[in-house]
Amino acid sequence: MKRFENKICFITGAGSGIGKATALSFSREGGKVVLCDIDEKNALNTKDEVLAQGGEAMVIALDISNGAAVKKAIEQTVATYGRLDCAANIAGVAGPVSKRIHEYPEEFWHQQINVNLTGTWYCMKYQLGQMLKNGGGNIVNLSSAAGLIAQPENAPYAASKHGVVGLTRTAAKEYATDNIRVNAICPTAIETPMIMEGRRKLAHNEDARQAAINFQAMKRMGTPQEIADVILWLCSDRSSFITGIALAADGGAMA
Ligand SMILES: NC(=O)c1ccc[n+]([C@@H]2O[C@H](COP(=O)([O-])OP(=O)(O)OC[C@H]3O[C@@H](n4cnc5c(N)ncnc54)[C@H](O)[C@@H]3O)[C@@H](O)[C@H]2O)c1
Repeated sequence: MKRFENKICFITGAGSGIGKATALSFSREGGKVVLCDIDEKNALNTKDEVLAQGGEAMVIALDISNGAAVKKAIEQTVATYGRLDCAANIAGVAGPVSKRIHEYPEEFWHQQINVNLTGTWYCMKYQLGQMLKNGGGNIVNLSSAAGLIAQPENAPYAASKHGVVGLTRTAAKEYATDNIRVNAICPTAIETPMIMEGRRKLAHNEDARQAAINFQAMKRMGTPQEIADVILWLCSDRSSFITGIALAADGGAMA
């Protein structure tokens, strides 16, 4: 029997990078996947790939910073599949500029806090409510190494990702006797559109790309699949005594 046979798995950020790899992995292991992303077109592409590998999926166009929309997305999930077993809160943004705090534009502070922190809180709020109703579940939140240490010139990202760790640890304590586990993953550089084409544009700047590679003791970036594998492990019974951790997945960077 597959690890996630008939489990209902809700994934945000499912249209790209780590979220897409996680959705395809849950599906390969038998899960029915709910693919949420603000970019509906990319989420539909992920759905095509899920169907092509013989899986079952539904797409929800979702902005996680809209609480009413998140509530509705959980309701839609339960209306379709009857329950919610696993949630991977992966959607996030890194902001478009690199500046110290005194020069940092207010607009992008609010954007990152609204999506990464408030959005993750909305997801957890409605997921936890449903998991209580269906007798348990597993939540994994995508924080970052910037949830554990500084990220110079991107304070809102570091603040929002530290916040995700605080939410994770608090939820783990609050629901530990309800058969609900809540954990966070804190990766360093993972090769996805966010870092290759986003703020740091590593695909177009060889010096920056080498610096990103050298940050890891392994002298390489991680792959989306390597993070998906950790998410699935944390959602599986093989990690049944683990809740409230902020797990660095970092090629030895923090060591
Ligand atoms: N790539 C890295 O090096 C790295 C390192 C540490 C943490 N992370 C975190 O991992 C997560 C996934 O990042 P990724 O690298 O796969 O990036 P990505 O840009 O490839 O994917 C992020 C996805 O989130 C979606 N999204 C953005 N805002 C949204 C919103 N408001 N509502 C719903 N969906 C939204 C995007 O459309 C996109 O599909 C993020 O939370 C990111 O902060 C990434």
